[in-house]
Amino acid sequence: MEGEPMETDRTEENDSEQYFEIGATVISGLEMFARDECQEKLKCKAEIGRGRIYFNIAKDQLHSIVTLQAVNNLFVLVNKDKNKELDLYGKKDSTLEYLKELVTHQDWSVPLAAWKEFTKSSHHLERPQDGTKNQCDNLPIFRVTCTRSSKEGRKHEFSSQEAASATGGRINDIFGWPVKMKDFDMEISVDINDTKVVLGINLTSESLHRRNITHFGPTTLQSTIAYCMLRMSCPQVGDIICDPMCGGSSIPIEGARTWASCYFLSGDNVEIATEKSEGNITAIEEKRNSITSKGLFLHLDVFQWDVTNLPLRSNSVDVFITDLPFGKRMGSKLNNWELYRRGLTEMARVCKPGTGRAVLLTQDKKCMARVLKMTNHLWRKKYLQFIRMGGLTAGMYSLTRVGRAAQVAAQTQS
Ligand SMILES: C[S@@+](CC[C@H](N)C(=O)[O-])C[C@H]1O[C@@H](n2cnc3c(N)ncnc32)[C@H](O)[C@@H]1O
Repeated sequence: MEGEPMETDRTEENDSEQYFEIGATVISGLEMFARDECQEKLKCKAEIGRGRIYFNIAKDQLHSIVTLQAVNNLFVLVNKDKNKELDLYGKKDSTLEYLKELVTHQDWSVPLAAWKEFTKSSHHLERPQDGTKNQCDNLPIFRVTCTRSSKEGRKHEFSSQEAASATGGRINDIFGWPVKMKDFDMEISVDINDTKVVLGINLTSESLHRRNITHFGPTTLQSTIAYCMLRMSCPQVGDIICDPMCGGSSIPIEGARTWASCYFLSGDNVEIATEKSEGNITAIEEKRNSITSKGLFLHLDVFQWDVTNLPLRSNSVDVFITDLPFGKRMGSKLNNWELYRRGLTEMARVCKPGTGRAVLLTQDKKCMARVLKMTNHLWRKKYLQFIRMGGLTAGMYSLTRVGRAAQVAAQTQS
């Protein structure tokens, strides 16, 4: 946020006294959005890693981390040296031993205090000295999961499973906590990225991207991605924001919950999609109204329509925002070409010239590039961000609606 002072970098010496070091997983490609949101909302400096952001939060502010909307999972860091290059390409046994030593040499007290505070756990975390039954019964059940990536052309000699077992074994030696793969109380994550290791204790038990949706469809978009798309569109007070191919309405719901001063329109040509949208909206409104008696309803209406022929007045919408059928799970690449061309032309008719904008997500980047070339008298590409979604690379396009004078000039030239 402009004009507001941001706290400066926090030094390592006072970190453990006053701060918890927090990490958050982010869809690859959206790290910058997550960092900016973190800096704005929590007023702390955030650092970007691959598919992660990291920041320090004052101990008494720990619970404010749940306000972050661009991140999937939150964890508290155990090792202070996450950027240290380690020798992880050696022989399997010696490397696994190395990982065990890493576990042994950490000060677990601060991250465990964060976990206990965040989860409101009443577990006994220290290894029982006298082994009294009560203390043993009250130990947390834990599991370790490992994610791993190596540099191109290099290969770790161990598997993720082996790294998780080695780490879990050593934690069990130190604390005596029982291990279970299901119904565990605590999850410890080991993220091995080439030569670096991040050891964390998960604070969230379920990814935050599921927050809005109760009626899932075959292509439901993660709420965290929807939030970043909305941020990219820079919503202004009073804006009319439309998702013309809404599916279960994950984008408009996230928008209406966050930008209450805007009005949202949501539509799809398939009846089951509009039914799912209604279901998702009702579930959220009922949940809200069970907490407060104020009657809080989302500024969001759902319609069944065709994006190529919208029942909306020309120049009436400020922002179009949607994830288009990718062609893999929904539609086909052959149809995409016609749908994208006619859809973008119709959105341009309805969008306000000059100030209007669009944020469009698609995996069919070839088709989008071709259609944007054909419609360059209507839409101008401002920004393109690639993101990783379910093993595929998708493009997030930020467009501005060309003003009337520029549109006439472009048409005269062609
Ligand atoms: C990728 S999905 C959108 C998923 C959605 N964001 C969600 O989270 O559920 C694309 C949607 O476009 C819709 N669609 C395809 N052709 C359409 C058209 N001509 N008019 C309106 N919607 C259309 C499909 O029915 C589908 O629900």
